[in-house]
Amino acid sequence: MYISKNLLIDNRRKLKSMSKELINKGEIQINIIKQLKEAELKNDNVCIKILMQSIQELAIDILVCLKLKDRRIGEIMDKCLLSSIKMDYATPFWLFDELDNIFDFKVDLAADENNKKCLYWITKENNSLEQKWNYPNWCWLNPPYGRELSKWVKKSYESESKVCMLIPARPDTNYFHMYIKNANYILFIKGRLKFDNCKTPAPFPSMLVFFGEMESGQIKKLKDLNLGLGLKGEFK
Ligand SMILES: C[S@@+](CC[C@H](N)C(=O)[O-])C[C@H]1O[C@@H](n2cnc3c(N)ncnc32)[C@H](O)[C@@H]1O
Repeated sequence: MYISKNLLIDNRRKLKSMSKELINKGEIQINIIKQLKEAELKNDNVCIKILMQSIQELAIDILVCLKLKDRRIGEIMDKCLLSSIKMDYATPFWLFDELDNIFDFKVDLAADENNKKCLYWITKENNSLEQKWNYPNWCWLNPPYGRELSKWVKKSYESESKVCMLIPARPDTNYFHMYIKNANYILFIKGRLKFDNCKTPAPFPSMLVFFGEMESGQIKKLKDLNLGLGLKGEFK
């Protein structure tokens, strides 16, 4: 898992200063309590009243500080999770070959020289998201899994071409409910894929999403691969 070192250092610094502030406030609180005990011994009611009020105000202050720290930790965790997302998970060759035998992909819609899977491929430099996808054959798409994933899903849904996508299985996302639910076929892959450029299985489940009519022979062959749970269209 990759987490930016600078991000960690920066966040550790911010958390440290928040903790320092909390410790300071805690020390002041202890001091006031000591003064309160002395005031109680002297029966100094005016002083007791003032000190009690200070304790109450400080308690609220500490609570606000704790809440802020909590929120900050949440934000940091979100940032770390996002920054730890490895974008390019190269499709395992065994999986691509099995699917290619059925769908005979001609175009890889997101690739580079080293991980291209088809005879024709579109690179980041040519920005596939800005190209017109109007190919006559089934296209292969394993897009980068970053923030722009929903754009790839939307484009696949709207495209004139038939697209088979390999993406993380996240039925909780907006794009799942807007576009993927309208796919012709969804296959939730059993277990976790070990992507080609990874040493360990992925930390997320995967699914294959097919936008485009399949022939019955293709569905049968896909089922025969026994890759997981396949759901056929008509989710609208
Ligand atoms: C998850 S990898 C998939 C690689 C390969 N197609 C496969 O299936 O193994 C995603 C690829 O998309 C490329 N990419 C990123 N943004 C792109 C864009 N806007 N247009 C085309 N390719 C892009 C990345 O460079 C990377 O090679």
